[in-house]
Amino acid sequence: MDKIHAAITGVGAFLPEYRLTNDEISKLVDTTDEWIMQRIGIKERRILKEEGKATSDMAAEAVLQLLKKTGTSPEEVDLLICATITADNPFPATANIISDKAGLKNAWSFDLSAACSGFIFALTTGSKFIESGQYKKVIVVGADMMSAITNYSDRTTCPLFGDGAAAVMLEPTLEDIGVIDHINRVDGSGRFYLQQKAGGSARPASYKTIDNQEHFVYQEGQTVFKFAVSNMADVAVEMMNKHGIQSEDLAWLVPHQANMRIIDAVARRMGISRDQVMINIQKYGNTTAATIPLCLYDYESQLKKGDKIILAAFGAGFTWGAIYLKWAYDPK
Ligand code: UT7
Repeated sequence: MDKIHAAITGVGAFLPEYRLTNDEISKLVDTTDEWIMQRIGIKERRILKEEGKATSDMAAEAVLQLLKKTGTSPEEVDLLICATITADNPFPATANIISDKAGLKNAWSFDLSAACSGFIFALTTGSKFIESGQYKKVIVVGADMMSAITNYSDRTTCPLFGDGAAAVMLEPTLEDIGVIDHINRVDGSGRFYLQQKAGGSARPASYKTIDNQEHFVYQEGQTVFKFAVSNMADVAVEMMNKHGIQSEDLAWLVPHQANMRIIDAVARRMGISRDQVMINIQKYGNTTAATIPLCLYDYESQLKKGDKIILAAFGAGFTWGAIYLKWAYDPK
C-alpha cells in the first residue's frame, strides 16, 4: 500500500500591530540600532499591547484565517497542537483555549513545550497522526507572546524577542509530497543556559522570585549561540546527506529566526546561498515557536508544488531538529 504523507495544505498567521523599533529599545536600555542590526539583524518586532490579550488570542486569529484559506469548517478538525512556552496560564493548555476561541468542537488538543524548536517538534507529532491514517485534518500552531517574559531593562535579551502566531493545516496525501522525514534531538544538560528560572514547581512564584527578576528569559548568549550554530547546521546537513539533497536542489531552508549571524552560518555549512533562505527576522525578531510558520506564511506566494524544503531550529532545552518536506501546492 502507498504510504500516507502529511501535506501542509495552508498557512495562516497573526501579528500584533504595534512595532517596537530599535530606536524605541535604545530609549529603554543602553544600546543602538547599529549594534542590534550588526550583532542580531533585527529592525523591529511586533508586540501584543492590548490589555487582557494573550498567546491564545494571536493563535486563534491565525487558526481562523487558516480555516478560511483552506475552506475548512471548524467541526472538521481532528486535532490541534499548540507549540508555545508562553501559555496563557500554567493550566489548562493554551491549545484548549484556542480550540474554544476558534470553534473547534470535535478536536482534541494539547500544548507542546520545546521552546524555539516547538514548531518542528509539533509538526513531527502532528504528521504522525495523519500518516497513521487516523486523522484527516490536524492543525499545528506555533505561538508565543515573548513580551510577557522579556525584561525590558536587560539589553542582552530585550532586543531579541517579539510576539506572533502562525498555523498550518496537515492533510493526508498519497503523492510523494508533504513531510518526508525528521531528525529531532534534545540535550537537557543545556537547560541552564536558556531558561525561565521561576514560576514552575522548582521555584514557584514568590516575592523573592519577583525581586530577583526570575520570571523573565534568562540567557547566556554566547554559549547558546555556539550550540545553535553547530547543532542546527549538523542536523540540516545530516538531513541533506540522508536524502541525497545537493545544495542546488534545495528550494528553501527555513531556519528558526534567532540571529542573522546564526542563519548565515547554518546556510554556509549547507553550501546554500542567501536567496535559498527564508528570512524575516528583521521584521518580527525571535517569536520562538512562531518563527518557522511565519516564514512559510511570508514566502507562501513563492512556493511551488514539489519544492524541497528543510526546516531547522535550535532552542532552550537544549532542543534542536530538522524536518525535510516537499511543498504540496502552487501559489493560489
Ligand atoms: O532562540 C533560542 C536561541 N537563542 C539564540 O540563538 C540566541 C543566541 N545568542 C545570540 O544571538 C547572541 O549571543 C546575542 C545577540 C544574545 C549577544 O551577541 P554576542 O555577539 O554574543 O554578544 P556578547 O554577549 O558576547 O556581548 C558582547 C558585548 C558585551 O560587552 P562587553 O562585555 O564586551 O563590554 C555586552 O555587554 O556586547 C554587549 N552587549 C550589547 N551592547 C549593546 C550585549 N547586548 C548589547 C546590546 N547593545 N543590546
